[in-house]
Amino acid sequence: MKTSICTLLDIEAPIFAFSHCRDVVSEVSRAGGFGVLGIAGFTAEQLEQELTWIDQHIGDKCYGVDLLIPGQRIEEADFTKLEAMIPQPHKDFMQGLVEKYKLPELPADHEGHFSRIEDSSIIGDRPYEMLAIALKHPKVRLYVNALGTPSPRIMDMCKTAGIKVAAMAGKVKHAVKHKEAGVDLIIAVGGEAAGHTGDISTMVLTPQVVDAVAPTPVLAAGGIASGRQIAAALALGAEGVWTGSVWLPTQESELSSMQRKKILDAESDETVRSRSMTGKPVRMIVSEFTHVWESDKAPKPLPFPLQIILTRDVVERVEKNNIEEMVTYPAGQVIGLLKQETSVRQVMQEMLEDYLGCCERINETIDY
Ligand SMILES: Cc1cc2nc3c(=O)[nH]c(=O)nc-3n(C[C@H](O)[C@H](O)[C@H](O)COP(=O)(O)O)c2cc1C
Repeated sequence: MKTSICTLLDIEAPIFAFSHCRDVVSEVSRAGGFGVLGIAGFTAEQLEQELTWIDQHIGDKCYGVDLLIPGQRIEEADFTKLEAMIPQPHKDFMQGLVEKYKLPELPADHEGHFSRIEDSSIIGDRPYEMLAIALKHPKVRLYVNALGTPSPRIMDMCKTAGIKVAAMAGKVKHAVKHKEAGVDLIIAVGGEAAGHTGDISTMVLTPQVVDAVAPTPVLAAGGIASGRQIAAALALGAEGVWTGSVWLPTQESELSSMQRKKILDAESDETVRSRSMTGKPVRMIVSEFTHVWESDKAPKPLPFPLQIILTRDVVERVEKNNIEEMVTYPAGQVIGLLKQETSVRQVMQEMLEDYLGCCERINETIDY
């Protein structure tokens, strides 16, 4: 499976894996794909630790980092002022959940994904500080900008460091803006994808983005977990695939046993696009948490990042205490295809074999 992307990043197969888990990132790159670490929730100190670990375990392979930077910079960098913007009815609503589900307080030394949000990368100048840390690691070869077009400052930093830049697009107009900013790669994210996503399906979005930004290469994202789906993405004009959900049930992933069980048990209609987690639409597993935010009594979710600041404590209390009906996690519709725990290597191998079989089948349809 060779496309232009393999030459661009010196990889064997154009299979990109997004994960918050360093083990997945390192293992995907070692298996011939390209791992990308989601670094949005990390503090500077945690980021340095994670990247150093990957550097030591990835051998002679390379990887990328992904930052959640909204199109509009969050100017307010004073965390106390951000917290003060949260209306009392929203706080009362969360307190109601704490009481209803009897959620014990988190221990003082608890380290959850966003538990140190005040020091994490999403506000003020932090994204630039995080990127500067990542750029000091020579095996980091790609920077991915989630949620918007990378600013000229980000483009300058990456170009000076000699690394490639990608950006995610859920609409054609976003992809065109990314191209004008000079990115090397555009990721067309279909509505079935996990995490922040729009509502146009991968099948419809990918060829439109490919045509609109040619010759800039495009990765298709959303709903891709098998070789057949990779073949479909390449048939639509993509030069590779960007995946997330398929790595969740691997032994290497960061999931708790409860989250893993939820993913393996879920069907494709058990995810929902909800603003309840971050304030922007995130596709995630349906649970009581997503249901309560849809009820008539719920306040309107706050804008990003206030909604994360509001909800992170309850989300982490739920995870820590394994409150099954409330547990949720970003996940795409493709989880309906994932029915057993596996390993990163196995996923890669099965994808490649399935892709080959699929190409042979399609080839046979041609009446020479
Ligand atoms: C648990 C999880 C967390 C995610 N968080 C982010 C994130 O912080 N930044 C980002 O760009 N994408 C994030 N995504 C979305 C992925 O980058 C990717 O677009 C998506 O998973 C692709 O669709 P798929 O899940 O159907 O493979 C996340 C995905 C998952 C599964």
